[in-house]
Amino acid sequence: MALLKILHFPDSRLRTKAKPVKEVDAKIQNIITDMFETMYMAPGIGLAATQVNIHQRIIVIDVSENKNQPLCLINPNIISVDGQQSTEEGCLSVPGVFEQVQRAENITVQALDKNGKQLTLTADEILSVCIQHEIDHLNGKLFVDRISSLKRQRIRQKLIKQQRNI
Ligand code: NI
Repeated sequence: MALLKILHFPDSRLRTKAKPVKEVDAKIQNIITDMFETMYMAPGIGLAATQVNIHQRIIVIDVSENKNQPLCLINPNIISVDGQQSTEEGCLSVPGVFEQVQRAENITVQALDKNGKQLTLTADEILSVCIQHEIDHLNGKLFVDRISSLKRQRIRQKLIKQQRNI
């Protein structure tokens, strides 16, 4: 197991569109294990492979209070959406920033699980938000793209300044 380095906005590698996983083999399962470890340590409730500079369509999530409900989605695909909700979101790639983002309320998603088995999942509330947020990452998109450009510009400057001071 290994902790992976999380890329921070505005790193251009976060803009890479991830490729579908062809086969869920031992190598992919090792990546998943490392992603869970990295997410729990951060700590965060979701992590997309894009954020650790691995450009394959893999996300890991755990929105449970006791951090005992790991969910891995490979090649996730939202097949239906319904309603709207606005939630305050944050992101391990945009540390210290929280903004209201509007997204679909209910979603149905198809994916492969960590064993390569097909699954269909319906989600609402925080799980729905989290899945949509992580799938955005796989498409090179960040939650700050969904807020005003003025706010995004301020956040960009703040993070560049922070990174210079490290
Ligand atoms: Ni994120």
